Amino acid sequence: MQTFKVLKTWKASDEVKQKFHFLEKWNFLLIVGKSSNQNLKSKIFHICKMNIKIPKTQFPVSEVVKKRWSARAFSSSPINEATLKTLIEAATWAASSNNEQPWLYTYALKADTERFEKFHSCLLAGNQPWAKNAAVLLLSCVRTTFAANGKPNKSALHDVGGANTTLMLEAIQHNIYGHMMGGYDVEKTKALFELPEGVEPVIFIALGYLDAPETLEEPFKTRELTARSRKKVDEVLF
Ligand SMILES: Cc1cc2nc3c(=O)[nH]c(=O)nc-3n(C[C@H](O)[C@H](O)[C@H](O)COP(=O)(O)O)c2cc1C
Repeated sequence: MQTFKVLKTWKASDEVKQKFHFLEKWNFLLIVGKSSNQNLKSKIFHICKMNIKIPKTQFPVSEVVKKRWSARAFSSSPINEATLKTLIEAATWAASSNNEQPWLYTYALKADTERFEKFHSCLLAGNQPWAKNAAVLLLSCVRTTFAANGKPNKSALHDVGGANTTLMLEAIQHNIYGHMMGGYDVEKTKALFELPEGVEPVIFIALGYLDAPETLEEPFKTRELTARSRKKVDEVLF
């Protein structure tokens, strides 16, 4: 009955939806979780997670920045390849020193099981249990020298970080959550992906639509349900 109510209320206006505070209750999510409508589930989980993970900021930070967080509970919904390329294109519109664009990406869709396993096998034990449910695993790499003269590009890592963050923010606009992972076997990654001289792996990124935290084992479930925190603005000013 409650599920039916949610399915109906989803079609309501944003203003009406915001009044349905019962969506905050995790018990209720379990009922919704039984629905076979993945897209609807993803949207409802998204709304509920917002309540937990969206910070109360000191200053009026934009919605898209507040919405991004590093999720671990990914649903089985695939990410359309055109949407994925939209996220990657967004990354390419990041600023870079001398417009060098030192970023390189390669990805595996979950449906491509052999390729997905290649990516997954590079992750460390703390990331493998939840990253296996991602719809996409993405490897972010960096070209460490300038193409024109071969000299070291000291801004390269900075610029790739900007590109990856741009990708994550674009993803949020599509209700796709990303989780950056520095926890991977660097040497194995270099070897498996046959990275050429001057190209280094930076991070893996797990991407997917949200699922309920209950789908995770501990300690990941607790982390999924814990509010995010940050230093105060005054603490980072000097
Ligand atoms: C470069 C980098 C590497 C990270 N590596 C990991 C990782 O290996 N495993 C993990 O669970 N989270 C990883 N994270 C996610 C951070 O722990 C997370 O961003 C941080 O706790 C803040 O949480 P939030 O992204 O939800 O705001 C990484 C983040 C960055 C930027």
